[in-house]
Amino acid sequence: MQWSLYLLILMGQCCFFTCRLYEYHFIKENKRWYEAQRYCREKYTDLAKVFDMTDMSRLRNSTQNQGEAWIGLNNNTGGNRTWHWSLPGVEYIQNDSSWNLNGRETWEHPGNCGRKRYKEGDKKLADVSCDEAFYFICHDEMKKDNKTLHLIQNPTLNWTQAQNYCRSYYTDLVSGLDQVDGEEYEAVIKGLTSPFSIWVGLFRDSWRWSDGSDFSFRYWDMELFNDTQSNKTCAMTLLNRSGKWSSDECDKEKPFFCYDDNLILVEENKTWEEAFYYCRENYSDLVSITNSDEQDWIQEKVKEANSPYVWLGLRYTCTLGFWFWVTDEVVKYKNWGPDVTTDGCDMSGAMNVGSPHKWSKQADNKMFNFICSKK
Ligand SMILES: *[C@@H]1O[C@H](CO)[C@@H](O)[C@H](O)[C@H]1NC(C)=O
Ligand SMILES: *[C@@H]1O[C@H](CO)[C@@H](O)[C@H](O)[C@H]1NC(C)=O
Ligand SMILES: *[C@@H]1O[C@H](CO)[C@@H](O)[C@H](O)[C@H]1NC(C)=O
Ligand SMILES: *[C@@H]1O[C@H](CO)[C@@H](O)[C@H](O)[C@H]1NC(C)=O
Ligand SMILES: *[C@@H]1O[C@H](CO)[C@@H](O)[C@H](O)[C@H]1NC(C)=O
Ligand SMILES: *[C@@H]1O[C@H](CO)[C@@H](O)[C@H](O)[C@H]1NC(C)=O
Ligand SMILES: *[C@@H]1O[C@H](CO)[C@@H](O)[C@H](O)[C@H]1NC(C)=O
Ligand SMILES: *[C@@H]1O[C@H](CO)[C@@H](O)[C@H](O)[C@H]1NC(C)=O
Ligand SMILES: *[C@@H]1O[C@H](CO)[C@@H](O)[C@H](O)[C@H]1NC(C)=O
Ligand SMILES: *[C@@H]1O[C@H](CO)[C@@H](O)[C@H](O)[C@H]1NC(C)=O
Ligand SMILES: *[C@@H]1O[C@H](CO)[C@@H](O)[C@H](O)[C@H]1NC(C)=O
Repeated sequence: MQWSLYLLILMGQCCFFTCRLYEYHFIKENKRWYEAQRYCREKYTDLAKVFDMTDMSRLRNSTQNQGEAWIGLNNNTGGNRTWHWSLPGVEYIQNDSSWNLNGRETWEHPGNCGRKRYKEGDKKLADVSCDEAFYFICHDEMKKDNKTLHLIQNPTLNWTQAQNYCRSYYTDLVSGLDQVDGEEYEAVIKGLTSPFSIWVGLFRDSWRWSDGSDFSFRYWDMELFNDTQSNKTCAMTLLNRSGKWSSDECDKEKPFFCYDDNLILVEENKTWEEAFYYCRENYSDLVSITNSDEQDWIQEKVKEANSPYVWLGLRYTCTLGFWFWVTDEVVKYKNWGPDVTTDGCDMSGAMNVGSPHKWSKQADNKMFNFICSKK
């Protein structure tokens, strides 16, 4: 690497905890939902979307206001429901061989929540009414007691209650086929006598985010929200009910939240060095990823890329023999894919556009799209 480039990298502003990937803006003016959407798209990126509980807390913290405010979620899909995994960041991918569409008892009705039934060799997913009470399995990111999965048999709960329980005591309901079809799952249910049913973190709804992203996080206030009130098709946060959500008629005028994206996907193919200069001149820097939340957010962005990989601000120093971020951060959080390319001079890091969006070591004269951060 040229020394001039090396020096420039070292001069980069460090942003550690100060830069965020996106920011919320509370707009005090009362507007109808679609007017609010237009306003946000003009002045910022779009109406606010919410990825997880941390986002929800940031959204609440960004205003002193109490009362109702629009967020960027609405139900204008004509009732086209799609499946989601409850745990933020786990993408739902349809796999017919995981489902048994006849896997219901005669008295059970089809529904919008997913469970696994164990009966006479059947152990596949089936959709049933969310009102039923079953055992359930929680996923624990913190691995308390060295376990990721926890079976809850007592009490048995309906799906919404089970989700609440898991979010209160662990992280969320067990999510993704890796977890649901995995070894630890099998180990956790080993002692149970079939037939039995277990809730997993699958639900389907017809709500979509204004900017088209596929975030699965929902925070409905079940005391107020009714998913069959067909003329209340826009979502709001109730700031005086700890930010929980309900829905209202889109013509009502309310204050609202916009979000502003601090990341730009540049859909042009450039070498790593060209991309680096482009970001430094026009924005702030090539993007760095220091934790799994950032990884999740950037995953969402790379889906729109038109190259197979997307450059990150990740660089190998040949002289010193290690990888570093151009924002001067140490590479602590890692998400390398299984490709066997060894480290080497003139290598840079890129994210695979295909799921599960692992990082890959690529020769830096290859031409890919890239992501810049704004501040
Ligand atoms: C929101 O504010 C509360 C109380 O001031 C604080 O404890 C919490 O960490 C803040 N959340 C975020 C995401 O900044
Ligand atoms: C919350 O605010 C809304 C709108 O300002 C109001 O109608 C409602 O009564 C409030 N609810 C509570 C529990 O304070
Ligand atoms: C339903 O929504 C999904 C995902 O948004 C889309 O792929 C599908 O085409 C839609 N189906 C109908 C009938 O609109
Ligand atoms: C679907 O799931 C089965 C097992 O449940 C697995 O063997 C298969 O690889 C999966 N297919 C895809 C496309 O992921
Ligand atoms: C789950 O149970 C609670 C408490 O019994 C009830 O209020 C709620 O409506 C139920 N939710 C569903 C989706 O069945
Ligand atoms: C968890 O596992 C680690 C390493 O496998 C071990 O050192 C530790 O004692 C275990 N902790 C508990 C609470 O079992
Ligand atoms: C969402 O839209 C569908 C189809 O129009 C409708 O059946 C459902 O009741 C709507 N839900 C709400 C909360 O408006
Ligand atoms: C939800 O709204 C529908 C239509 O307005 C109504 O029939 C139903 O009883 C409501 N459900 C609840 C739990 O309030
Ligand atoms: C929506 O439905 C409620 C109750 O069914 C009704 O009072 C209200 O006038 C309706 N609003 C619109 C805009 O149709
Ligand atoms: C900054 O962006 C403009 C186009 O938006 C581009 O022409 C220019 O080359 C960029 N700067 C660098 C250093 O790449
Ligand atoms: C970027 O390169 C990919 C192939 O790697 C190509 O499919 C795509 O069209 C290129 N994009 C542009 C904007 O030239």
